[in-house]
Amino acid sequence: MKTIVAEVPDVFAARGAELVVEAAAESIAARGRFVLVLAGGSTPGSLHRMLASEAYRSRIAWARAHIFFGDERAVPGDAKESNYGAAHADLLQHLPIPPENVHRMQGESKDLAAAARDYEATLLDVSGCPEGATPAPTVAPADELIDLMFVGIGKDAHIFSLFPFAPAIDEKHALVVAEINPPMNPALSRITMTPKAILRARCVVAIATGGDKREAVHLARSGPYNPRQYPAQLLRRAHDLVWLLDTTAAGAP
Ligand code: 6PG
Repeated sequence: MKTIVAEVPDVFAARGAELVVEAAAESIAARGRFVLVLAGGSTPGSLHRMLASEAYRSRIAWARAHIFFGDERAVPGDAKESNYGAAHADLLQHLPIPPENVHRMQGESKDLAAAARDYEATLLDVSGCPEGATPAPTVAPADELIDLMFVGIGKDAHIFSLFPFAPAIDEKHALVVAEINPPMNPALSRITMTPKAILRARCVVAIATGGDKREAVHLARSGPYNPRQYPAQLLRRAHDLVWLLDTTAAGAP
């Protein structure tokens, strides 16, 4: 586990963008493609804008990249609550990435469970894992689907749309599921990756800024292990975990 504590917002954004550049170069050199999962919420906004800047954007072979999302609210992609919509405004519309390589969760679907299954199938297909193929219980690096996964953290230590005691925390097989009317803000149903997806990522970057995340970060990193209560503790299961924090989120609670 590695921890990066950024003293100022621009450093937070730049270190995050640098992680993307490095992971993309390694993944494309080793496997010919780069699978990136973007976090939802507001925290990644500055990082996305930094990554969209010429200084970073030009350093990635976007034609070899595929972009997925960790979770999405049950709204169309152009709704103000949409995680895709925020990423499109800050990052995606500025990238020379083939549109078919940006994989939006169909939050507007009337059947979120089917949309979640379809999304998982796309992730498996893009990542070269045959439909339905399930890796050995101990996932070997060769079975990892995702090269770099960003995950935001809620004040209650939720991740993705895995709120405390969410049924999906105990999901044993699916990588992506629907959460209907979870007790979250905004009060919307969601499509969300599950803890199983964390295990299929080569590197997970947990991002948090602001003093209101300090306790959640502390519990996630060093509290007694109780992932149903504190889903962010599931990040401890990542193959390679990087904490990208600002000084206030990293501070002692
Ligand atoms: C969502 C997000 C959620 C988010 C955290 C942090 O759709 O709400 O995926 O898990 O990452 O709630 O949100 P902020 O970055 O806005 O604090």
